[in-house]
Amino acid sequence: MNINQPNSLLPVPSGTLQIPESPSQELVWFSLIVPTYNEAANIEKIIQRLTQLLDERIPGNYELIVVDDNSPDGTWQIAQSLMQKYPQLQVMRRQDERGLSSAVIRGWQVAKGTLLGVIDGDLQHPPHVLLQLLDAIVKGADLAVASRHVDGGGVSSWSLIRRFLSRGAQVLGLIILPSVVGRVSDPMSGYFLVRRHSIANVTLNPVGYKILLEVLGRGQIKQIAEVGYVFCERKQGESKVTWKQYLEYIHHLLRLRLSTGHIGKFSQNFPVGRFVRFGLVGLSGVFVDMAVLYLLSDPTTLGLPLTRSKIIAGEIAIFNNFLWNDAWTFADVAMQQNSWRQRCKRFLKFNIICLAGLVLNVLVLNLVFNFLIRNRYVANLIAIAIATVWNFWVNLKLSWRVTQVK
Ligand code: GDD
Ligand code: MN
Repeated sequence: MNINQPNSLLPVPSGTLQIPESPSQELVWFSLIVPTYNEAANIEKIIQRLTQLLDERIPGNYELIVVDDNSPDGTWQIAQSLMQKYPQLQVMRRQDERGLSSAVIRGWQVAKGTLLGVIDGDLQHPPHVLLQLLDAIVKGADLAVASRHVDGGGVSSWSLIRRFLSRGAQVLGLIILPSVVGRVSDPMSGYFLVRRHSIANVTLNPVGYKILLEVLGRGQIKQIAEVGYVFCERKQGESKVTWKQYLEYIHHLLRLRLSTGHIGKFSQNFPVGRFVRFGLVGLSGVFVDMAVLYLLSDPTTLGLPLTRSKIIAGEIAIFNNFLWNDAWTFADVAMQQNSWRQRCKRFLKFNIICLAGLVLNVLVLNLVFNFLIRNRYVANLIAIAIATVWNFWVNLKLSWRVTQVK
């Protein structure tokens, strides 16, 4: 198709997913990719809203690139028909490749801007947040992420299951690839801006939906900024997320872990001082647990049944640990989020993570005692140490959310 025609489609790049250091023609500052699959009902509205916002902020200095994977509902044709009305709009129709992440990268490969971005085409990512993301980049960030997990962030009416799956995926990432997933509070975000030079000349190799993991894992990202946003409910069409995306996510994490030297970086960034304080608090919890267990279950005191006493003692110890961690180990973070609602939310997360840690503790104890070391106390010590690292690391990233974001 002759690319000089007014609404001709963009050429579709092939080969490795590498972004050139400088654009073929640097005619604009900002290139925003809108990946689409069956968004016919949303595409005109998102283009109209983005144009209105960006014409106000950076008139003539941006481009919108719709990258559509040959949607059966004709999204790419509708987008193409809008090019006349929206001169900043370009459209790429992919027929040989499919997938959200690769669509974004193909769009970045043909982009003209030195600042690259991605936003969903279904209006679930509120366009107005773009302005704060642009401000963060102007202030020096290499990567500006719209996050559901910082102040001002949230998900509209997600089911408990979807929240649990999303958080579970994040915890899995914190375990498999801590130095990447732990750098931001919402590593699953599909809404962010990144400087071209931070991700240029590296072969990106994403699989599935989580393009941000690839950018964090393979890019040269120094300064990160986060902006809170509320993930909106879809009005038209439906999410394309299936179990396949969850499996691809795990595959992506493992591949990133194996192919990048992020193992070393984890130990460099590990906050040893905080971990020591967390360990001392945990020790105080052991004394509280033992004391309450004695008061409740010893024949010379109340003589209650052991399991019931242990559950009460364990919960009181968790409460004790939370108070000390909130007031000492993570005081600097806690004081930034010190409303009662935030404190209760933190306590709830801490509780869930510590109870999961208790399950891990029991599993490791049985594993070590039955297959490795036939001494229950040594096995228990190993189990407590592993559960403490789990409790510390996951609480650091989810409850008190110490990310590398400035
Ligand atoms: N080109 C292309 N190819 N676009 C796709 C594909 C694909 O295979 N699959 C989905 N898209 C487009 C959709 O049209 C939509 O614009 C956007 O990518 C997100 O797809 P959804 O299916 O709506 O994903 P979601 O809403 O469940 O999750 C989104 O938001 C999360 C939070 O930011 C995704 O962006 C997730 O990656 C993200 O974690
Ligand atoms: Mn969506």
